[in-house]
Parts: sequence; structure tokens; C-alpha cells
Amino acid sequence: MICFFLSLFSQVFQSGWTGVNERTFIAIKPDAVQRKLVGEIVQRFERKGFKLVALKLVQASEDLRMDHYWDLRNKPFFSGLIHYMRSGPVVAMVWQGLNVVKTARTMLGETNPAESLPGTIRGDYCVDVGRNVIHGSDSVPSAQKEISLWFKPHELQLWERNSTPWIY
Ligand code: RTP
Ligand code: MG
Repeated sequence: MICFFLSLFSQVFQSGWTGVNERTFIAIKPDAVQRKLVGEIVQRFERKGFKLVALKLVQASEDLRMDHYWDLRNKPFFSGLIHYMRSGPVVAMVWQGLNVVKTARTMLGETNPAESLPGTIRGDYCVDVGRNVIHGSDSVPSAQKEISLWFKPHELQLWERNSTPWIY
């Protein structure tokens, strides 16, 4: 009975979208999977102190790719982008933590790798805007939309992380 209430409390607590419960959607793009950068990228988020909530290797469907980048449908690079995202599996992830949306974008670097500082993921691992290895949600509302596009609710894991008191 106590376990049930603890689990219920934990689920309610973790389902919030503010403070330490903020979540973002991160996708390791097909080029990074092919180039064996998955471990390196996951390690950066782990070491930063963010909590992994979901992770899966996905060959994104046409509908998913279109829905994900729908805001960019009128851009000249849209068809190339959709083709790029179809070129192989992507690692879809949800990470949680304080200011994770903004901080993850800082960790990614600029959209164009040429403008990304060394030390950022794009600054360290790519050179071409059309092969920029990683996606990160650009706002909390975008993160909510993207997480619901890529994951079913039961795929988001609720778990207690022993290191949390050493991070907050
Ligand atoms: P993302 O959504 O993938 O995290 O990238 P972002 O926010 O930094 O940039 P966004 O404007 O959302 O663009 C999405 C992806 O489209 C490709 N792109 N190509 N000029 C170009 O050829 C161009 N501009 C953007 C990139 O793969 C970019 O990440
Ligand atoms: Mg974007």
C-alpha cells in the first residue's frame, strides 16, 4: 500500500513540466548514429546531470518526420531535411532537469556547425548544417509537443535516481 502511494506521488510529481521536472526531446540524427556518436552524446547529457526518462532507436515514419518539422514546411531545405531524417534510424530521447530545454540547446550549439563553439556537440562533431547530428526542442511547448509525437505515455520511465541529491 505504501509503495502504491509512493508510486502515485512520484508519477504526479514527475509529470509536472516546471523546475527540476522540465523535460526536453532530443534526437540523435541518422548521421550521428552511422558515425557511432550515440554513446558520446548520451554521455554528455548524463554527465551534465540530466535524468534520462526515455530512449529508443526509431526509423521515423513519413508522418512522424513531417509532423516533427511541420513548422519548417515552407523552407527551401524542407525536402532535404525530411530525406536526411529518413536516411537511417534515429535515437529518440527524453531528458529531464532544471532548465533542460535551454541548457540542452546550449549544449547542442548553433544550427549551423560553422557557428557552433568548440565544446558544443555540433561544434565538436560536424561541419554541415544539413548533417548537424542532433535535434533539441527549442521551447517547453515544443518539447511537450515533440515528446507526445515520438513517445507513448507508458514509454516515459518514472524512476528514482540516487544521485539527484548530489545534483540539486
Ligand atoms: P533542430 O530542430 O534539428 O534541433 O535544429 P534547429 O532548431 O537548430 O534548427 P531549425 O531551424 O529547427 O532547423 C531544423 C533542421 O533543418 C536543417 N537545416 N538546414 N539552411 C539549411 O540548409 C538548413 N537550415 C536548417 C538542420 O538539420 C536543422 O537542424
Ligand atoms: Mg528546430
